[in-house]
Amino acid sequence: MFGRQRVQASGRSGAAHLLVCGNEKGGSGKSTLGIHIATDLLNRGLRVGILDLDIRQQTMARFFAYRARTASIKKLALPMPRVEILPAVRRERVADVEHEERCKLFRLLLDLRNDCDIVIVDTPGASTNLSDIVHSQADTLISPMNDSFVDFDVLGSIDPVTGQFGGTSHYADTVRHARRERRHADGAMLDWVIVRNRQATFSSRNERKVDNGLRQLAMQMGFRLVDGIGERVVFRELFPLGLTVMDSAVLYDLNVCSRTSPSHLAGKAEIERLVRALRLPLEAEGAQRAAIRRELGRPNEFRTRIAELLH
Ligand SMILES: Nc1ncnc2c1ncn2[C@@H]1O[C@H](COP(=O)(O)OP(=O)(O)OP(=O)(O)O)[C@@H](O)[C@H]1O
Ligand SMILES: [Mg+2]
Repeated sequence: MFGRQRVQASGRSGAAHLLVCGNEKGGSGKSTLGIHIATDLLNRGLRVGILDLDIRQQTMARFFAYRARTASIKKLALPMPRVEILPAVRRERVADVEHEERCKLFRLLLDLRNDCDIVIVDTPGASTNLSDIVHSQADTLISPMNDSFVDFDVLGSIDPVTGQFGGTSHYADTVRHARRERRHADGAMLDWVIVRNRQATFSSRNERKVDNGLRQLAMQMGFRLVDGIGERVVFRELFPLGLTVMDSAVLYDLNVCSRTSPSHLAGKAEIERLVRALRLPLEAEGAQRAAIRRELGRPNEFRTRIAELLH
C-alpha cells in the first residue's frame, strides 16, 4: 500500500514526516507504540529514522539493538531503521549546554528527515528542554493514555458533578505552546492523536467515563481520539528479541508463535488499525491532508476545516 517514494510531507522541502510519541505521564506506552509503529512501517519497506530522546532509559534504541543482535545470531535479513540518540553535552554553564543540545537536535533532525521516509521520536515521561522543542517540530503527535483518571489529569479536568470542562493541565499546555511555535515558524498544523492504551477486553464503567471525558477534551483541545490497543502480553514479551507482532513472518519461522495465535493476530490487527488511523502522509491521500494542514495557519480555521477534511 505504501510506496517507497518519499513524499514532501512537512513544511520543509524534501523532509520526512515527523511523528513524535509524547505524554508527560510516565509509563503510558509511548515507547511501546513507537516500537510497534516503527516495525510496521519497516515491514512495509519504508526507510524509518528513530531518534530516542529518552536519554536515561533509551527503550527504543535498546529495542533496535536487540533486533540487530537477533538478526545477527539468527542470520535474518530484518528491516532495520536508522537509530540516533543525542550525544551528551558537557559545558560549565547550563545556558551553553542548552544551546549546544538545541543545535545538535536541529542538525540531527534535519539529517534524519532528509535521509528517511518517516522519523519517529520517542520522548521521556517528563518535560525536558529537548522534548519540548521536538513537540514544536512534530507533524503528528501520538499520545497514549491508559483508561485512568490519573493519566487523564495530565491533559485536563472535568467537573465530577456537572461533567463540565474544568481547564487544561500541564501536558495540554505544553502541546498548545508547541502548536503556537510551529504555527509561527512555518504556519503548519500539528495533528495531535490520542490513543487509549492497555484497554480491557470488557468495557467498564470507569472506561466509559474516561472515554466520555476524552471526547469532551478532544473538542476543547483539538486532538483526535482514535481506537485504542488492548492490554496484551504479546506487546511486551518480544522486546528482548527486538521483534514485534508486526514481524509475523520471522516469528513464524522462528517458531516463536503459531500462525493461528488469536492474541498475536488481534494485536497485529490493532497496530495496523492504529497506523491507518494516524493517516501518515505516506500515500497520496495522506500527503494531500498533510499539505492542507501546512496551509492551515490560523487556529480558528483549524476546528472547522480540519473537521471537514480529516474526518
Ligand atoms: N498495550 C500494552 N499491553 C501490554 N503491556 C504494555 C502495553 N503498553 C505498554 N505496556 C507495558 O507497560 C510498560 C510501560 O510502557 P512503555 O515503556 O511503552 O511506556 P512509556 O510511556 O514509554 O514509559 P516512560 O514514560 O517511562 O518512557 C512497559 O512494561 C510495557 O511493556
Ligand atoms: Mg518510554
